[in-house]
Amino acid sequence: MTDISMQFLGMKLSGPIVVAATPLSESIDNIRHMEDAGASAIVLTSLFEEQLALESRALDEDLSRGTESFAESLDFLPELSDYRMTHEGYLEHVRRAREAVAIPIIASLNGTTVGGWVRLAKEMEQAGASAIELNTFALATDRSQTSADLELQLLELVDGVCKAVKVPVAVKLSQMFTSLPNLCARLEEAGARAVVLFNRFYQPDFDIETLEVRPSLHFSTPSELLPRLHWAAILFGHLNGDIAITGGVHSAEDVLKAIMAGASVTEMASALHIHGIEHIGRVLADMRYWLEKREYASLAETRGCLSRRSVPDTSPYDRGNYIKTLSSYSLRQTVAAF
Ligand SMILES: Cc1cc2nc3c(=O)[nH]c(=O)nc-3n(C[C@H](O)[C@H](O)[C@H](O)COP(=O)(O)O)c2cc1C
Repeated sequence: MTDISMQFLGMKLSGPIVVAATPLSESIDNIRHMEDAGASAIVLTSLFEEQLALESRALDEDLSRGTESFAESLDFLPELSDYRMTHEGYLEHVRRAREAVAIPIIASLNGTTVGGWVRLAKEMEQAGASAIELNTFALATDRSQTSADLELQLLELVDGVCKAVKVPVAVKLSQMFTSLPNLCARLEEAGARAVVLFNRFYQPDFDIETLEVRPSLHFSTPSELLPRLHWAAILFGHLNGDIAITGGVHSAEDVLKAIMAGASVTEMASALHIHGIEHIGRVLADMRYWLEKREYASLAETRGCLSRRSVPDTSPYDRGNYIKTLSSYSLRQTVAAF
């Protein structure tokens, strides 16, 4: 039987499917179900630092009812009741999840200040999290903000968190960076043990009748996997730490592609919302069947076999591929026209 265990964040995981941060893991029953279906670790939904600010604002309001003492800057945020878990509730959930299952529970954090990131990460570690995933999101809307400024802020917070906790830290990144190999190398120097490629950030949609800008959330499709494969394949061999791929992983073929690009694990969310938690078991069975049919002794031996450093011709990963793809398309079009 093919060994499908993988090493990730210094832990031996039973397989390559980790449940990505999603509200599905807010129920302990679901968490048990995920483990039974074959998930090798679970990333909990993120705790947002804004939650704390809102909770302390609510407390202030209680203490000084009738005054207008709370920060105006919080007014644009969702109401406190829109967050599904309070800060304390989140930490309690980490404790209960750890007790409920044997697989690692990875807490996820989205902070706004270095102090906030550090404090919450420490609390998550104390609550028993096996590791911490930093759900990072920075969006430049100010012309004076340079990409170097944003990268420096990210590195400072990763450095702060990694110095404050002993558990391994993974950094979930946005796709919007110019030189990812350089950034990932510096994240590693700051203490990150893995990079997670890439979070999906939801762009607002427009209603042209009401002239409103609306938040929109849609599940991913496997086509979103391609940029992740591309970057994992470029990064593999250049980092000492691990790579996880999240975004567009729906089938056994997607998982195999991710591992062959250089990932140690995949983090899956949309497919579980669409097909249910038991989908993990089906994907693992399909993957085992594929590997056994080709007589692979282990999944780990396929890791990185299609990475940029492993393939004889690197041009598909480089600039040449862009030109070749476009020119081959126009040739086909021309032939079709005759
Ligand atoms: C309903 C929903 C809620 C999510 N909440 C979080 C979150 O709290 N923190 C986070 O880092 N990612 C969150 N994500 C992103 C997922 O963890 C995942 O990285 C992303 O959806 C890409 O994987 P997928 O293509 O399998 O959906 C959420 C995704 C969905 C669909």
